[in-house]
Amino acid sequence: IVLKEDPSLPPAVRIKLNNKSVELGEEGKKGTRVKVYGRILNFRAQKSATFIDLKDGYGVLQCVIPAGDLTKTYDALTFAQETALVLYGELKKVPPTQKAPDNRELHVDYYKVLGSAPSDLEAISNKVSRQQDPWDAQMLDNRHLVLRGENASAVMKLREAVEMAFVDTYREMEFRKVSPPAMVQTQVEGGSTLFKYDYYGEEAYLTQSSQLYLETVMQSLGNVWCLEKSFRAEKSLTRRHLSEYTHIEAEMDFIEFDDLLEHLEEIISRVVDKVLENPVSAEYIKLLNPGFQKPSRPFMRMKYADAIEWLNKQDPPILNEEGNLHAFGDDIAEAAERRMTDIINRPIFLTHFPVEIKAFYMKKDPNDLRVTESVDVLMPGVGEIVGGSMRMDDYDELIEAYKKNGIGHEPYYWYTDQRKYGSSPHGGYGLGLERFLAWMANRHTVRETCLYPRFMGRCKP
Ligand code: 4AD
Repeated sequence: IVLKEDPSLPPAVRIKLNNKSVELGEEGKKGTRVKVYGRILNFRAQKSATFIDLKDGYGVLQCVIPAGDLTKTYDALTFAQETALVLYGELKKVPPTQKAPDNRELHVDYYKVLGSAPSDLEAISNKVSRQQDPWDAQMLDNRHLVLRGENASAVMKLREAVEMAFVDTYREMEFRKVSPPAMVQTQVEGGSTLFKYDYYGEEAYLTQSSQLYLETVMQSLGNVWCLEKSFRAEKSLTRRHLSEYTHIEAEMDFIEFDDLLEHLEEIISRVVDKVLENPVSAEYIKLLNPGFQKPSRPFMRMKYADAIEWLNKQDPPILNEEGNLHAFGDDIAEAAERRMTDIINRPIFLTHFPVEIKAFYMKKDPNDLRVTESVDVLMPGVGEIVGGSMRMDDYDELIEAYKKNGIGHEPYYWYTDQRKYGSSPHGGYGLGLERFLAWMANRHTVRETCLYPRFMGRCKP
């Protein structure tokens, strides 16, 4: 059977599946004849008709192909998940006894298959919809197909909404967006996680953070921010470490530590508000994390020294990585940090980390020179999503800090110069977008909140 479009029918209007402004047919009233492109989400061949749920990345539409010539073609007999096709027909209201997305359905009078699909996808997509193990190698190899699933694609749509919410919020706050380089010759967060490569015969790195560059442009651009990739050669496999991640960073001029904390609370709250206020992105949250609640303000503030005490006071105490009680100066490792965050179960600003365990550029607390004016923002389920601090603004002190950290200061001349030409009290932070999303969308790992995760042992697809 070869199908032909009936020339006596009205011409079809092309619509996307989220278009709700089209006339629906009902008793005594004709609906608009439309043409829709998409792929089969799922289908059921019944006696009276074949029902297709069509998806196009914008919405889902139920399409009804009445039994007859239309369902007897080779194409119809080989429909499969992901078959790409264009369908023509009248859009009608769904009878009150039945259910379909947006309460409407397409009564198909003609269609053409544009790209067939084998029927082996079911196995993969079933796995996806049950949200199977994101660590599974087969799932990761098939990431390109996994992304076609409802959950994985909802996470990506939410991610876009969150990025746009940051863009809007920074604009409202009069922060200027810049684009620092990814190919650099300086480190920011320690040599052990640098990706090195050969740059025309010179040693160069993939950037760990755009912070140093941001610090050099606020003098002329005011408060600045960026949304760029950062790279870390993390040598362990954890729920929250990627080799390539999306880093939202900002730098603010002429501020004090408290201003930094206030700002962080404000931006996180506003971004969450925007995502929840938009009915489209609110739907993704409802699908992915129905229990999500906007964090109440003010966020809890806790000094590192008090956190050490808190960990030791638990019954049983939460121990450090060596299995001992925590002592001042210990790194609070990922496991301990997450236990603490989960028990407290609200956002925490963990502040004033010891000088020894933090990066070379952090400013010391003038009231306690053992510690820095630094902050990590911890979220339930994930732990640290933001790291920030005030920056050392004294020239001599910075030169001393390079030395203490075994860093040659020459390659940093452009960074150091900032302390020479009108230095200022300033500070900023970096927020891991994948971690922020793991928190908002309640995902087990950051591997689910980026398009194609990169981590030790995986650089494909
Ligand atoms: O705490 P970090 O290392 O801070 C910096 O890079 C600062 N220079 C940022 C700044 O002040 N402009 O990283 C900041 C955030 C972390 O809190 C975390 O959310 C994320 O970046 N992050 C990672 N996310 C995924 N995979 C990794 N390997 C990450 N490393 C850091």
